[in-house]
Amino acid sequence: MNEELRKLRDQALAGLQAASDADALEEWRIEYLGRKGTVTNLMRNIGQVPFEERPAYGQAANALKGELTDAFDARQQALVQESLAAEMAAEGVDVTLPGRRPQLGGVHPSNQTLREIADIFATMGFQVYTSRDVETDEYNFELLNMPPGHPARDMWDTFYTTTPGVIMRTHTSPGQIHAMKELGPNKPIRVILPGMCYRYEQVSARAEMMFHQVEGLAIGRNVTMADLKGVIVEFANQLYGAGRKLRFRCSHFPFTEPSVEADVDCILCGGTGCAVCKYTGWLEIMGAGMVHPTVLRNGGYDPAEWSGFAFGMGPERITMLKSGISDIRYFFGNDLRFLEQFG
Ligand code: PHE
Repeated sequence: MNEELRKLRDQALAGLQAASDADALEEWRIEYLGRKGTVTNLMRNIGQVPFEERPAYGQAANALKGELTDAFDARQQALVQESLAAEMAAEGVDVTLPGRRPQLGGVHPSNQTLREIADIFATMGFQVYTSRDVETDEYNFELLNMPPGHPARDMWDTFYTTTPGVIMRTHTSPGQIHAMKELGPNKPIRVILPGMCYRYEQVSARAEMMFHQVEGLAIGRNVTMADLKGVIVEFANQLYGAGRKLRFRCSHFPFTEPSVEADVDCILCGGTGCAVCKYTGWLEIMGAGMVHPTVLRNGGYDPAEWSGFAFGMGPERITMLKSGISDIRYFFGNDLRFLEQFG
């Protein structure tokens, strides 16, 4: 190989090494190996070489072209590898890292208790009936025997809306009227009515402004207070464990007559007295009573032929007792450290 070719070769290889991206590489290819490239021209110029030197010159030029073509291919490969490696490094993919676990949700503790309650009442033939959270004054109060101005309305601090007569329900009892109107008249009813209630409360460890209730309603031709007692005892035994003692205390609700509050013996101390039952030995679990004749009539039932019982309880309170939760505000605080304990 003559001096000229050797210089060209060294220059081309140095240029190739310096080409650091696809554009530079393509420029190099056009300069040396392109149709009008330096190396291509070597062949084209063979006519100017003295006749006897032509075979050697031709061979050398061909060899150079082959060498540079191979070098080009190798450099191109190397650049592809380099850019892949750079891309991988930039994306920071570490294939040895363990995968991320997807976060699994769980059933809210209130809903767990609601399901448990619904399952227990299902064993006694009660179906679930739901009605709306936004109620009318008529259903929340009037049809439940509390006309406007009735002093008993003070038992429920109410959220009013800007629409006159439309309020957030303060209890699930308006569902009694909805159920009677939809499922009756003149047909027996056995339903529970779970749902969210709202009260304009000073929020504290014991009181929230939103909470659940589970209402119960049974209507039939010969339903008595003994049926109410039997159903509640059975419920308490299934929920809190066999052998529960139950007592009724006199109470007053405008929509039941007579009205009671039902207590079970304290599930913590068994009745001997502790902080949970405030040393009374008893825990209040629900308000209840026989459906007031006026309420039966408002639901479309003739109180001369039909009678019924109703009760209402708070699943958050039940959950607090069962799980030793000291503050009702945890339920709607959306703190995962609380919720995850009920996974
Ligand atoms: N609605 C009553 C309350 O919120 C509870 C209740 C329901 C009482 C049904 C008697 C019958 O306090």
